[in-house]
Amino acid sequence: MNSWLDTPLTEALGCRYPIVQTAMGWVADANLVIATTQAGGFGFLAGATIAADELEGEILKVIDATGGSNFGLNFHMFQDNATQCVDLAIKYRLRAVSYGRGPDKQTIARFKAAKVLCIPTVGALKHALKAVELGADLITIQGGEGGGHTGGVPSSILLPQVLAAVKVPVIAAGGFSTGRGLASVLAAGGAGIAMGTRFLMTRESPTPAATLEHYLKVNDPQQVRVTTAVDGMRHRMIENRFINHLEQAGSFGRLRIALGSAWQWKQQTGMSLGHMAAVFVRALREDPSALSQVVMAANQPVLLQRSMVDGAPDEGILPSGQVAAAIGELLSCREVIEGIASEAQQCLDALLARSQARPSHHPASIGEPL
Ligand SMILES: Cc1cc2nc3c(=O)[nH]c(=O)nc-3n(C[C@H](O)[C@H](O)[C@H](O)COP(=O)(O)O)c2cc1C
Repeated sequence: MNSWLDTPLTEALGCRYPIVQTAMGWVADANLVIATTQAGGFGFLAGATIAADELEGEILKVIDATGGSNFGLNFHMFQDNATQCVDLAIKYRLRAVSYGRGPDKQTIARFKAAKVLCIPTVGALKHALKAVELGADLITIQGGEGGGHTGGVPSSILLPQVLAAVKVPVIAAGGFSTGRGLASVLAAGGAGIAMGTRFLMTRESPTPAATLEHYLKVNDPQQVRVTTAVDGMRHRMIENRFINHLEQAGSFGRLRIALGSAWQWKQQTGMSLGHMAAVFVRALREDPSALSQVVMAANQPVLLQRSMVDGAPDEGILPSGQVAAAIGELLSCREVIEGIASEAQQCLDALLARSQARPSHHPASIGEPL
């Protein structure tokens, strides 16, 4: 392989290709991370939805199958098992952690001492600047076209903004599935791409067939839209019967559904009533206006589970990037990764060949008409 694909990302993460499989609740399990790692990409386990007593087992499964800890763990500090995720990432010296709402400086210092790289995902320039200030080693920008929780700035605007503003390597996420996309990111100065939806739509994805059918059927990016009805935050998903029902339920109806989800989540995770009350009280103290968001946050894992685990796509939510509309078939992780790498290589080789084929005189400097 040509050095186009050797980037600060491959150097920092020790993988062959500058291609990251992002964390997705109930989807990014050990098998998906193993398939990604073995194909030369870099994978993140979705810590938020792996039960506390299974997380260490999933980490060990990837270590056994891949012969090392060259993969990452995703978590969010507001999650119940955040402390466990932090401790396990450090215990097993995982190569990296990713997160949205991030850990504090002390926790980041612990990661740094253990040489675990911190790779936050940000959806706006100001969050990128804050993440660097807190100690991010690399940054993933997620454009608004991306799946799951997502901001409102498209990748085409956010990537150049962040590249111009920070010195750490920048990975681009949100809307990627092709080698052309990877080539454009590398040419702009990015370190690589990260993809969720493309990896959800692979043969190694644990997503039930009935649910995957919904993803494969999407052929118009407008069918994958943003809603705030699930947990009060911007969340991009495929429109389905359930999401329309949730939006029409009104705020009281939504709170009732969210309380039901919170209860189910409590039963599933074994969370004590005391702990649940402590989470609410903490949220109240930090930001009283966010309390309804905390209750609604329980919606996310429970509603996701219905489609991603139970195989009932119309009774749960279908988080997805708009790129689902551009993906027509399930491939293996290896086919995805190698296909993207080779197409990017061809694009960049062609660009170089075009510039070399030009007459050697320079007819115009930048700014003059050609
Ligand atoms: C089904 C699904 C579940 C997701 N769950 C999580 C999650 O648990 N944690 C997280 O940080 N991001 C999550 N995301 C966002 C992805 O990690 C990733 O940033 C996003 O999918 C990138 O955009 P793309 O789908 O256009 O590739 C999820 C995305 C999808 C599609």
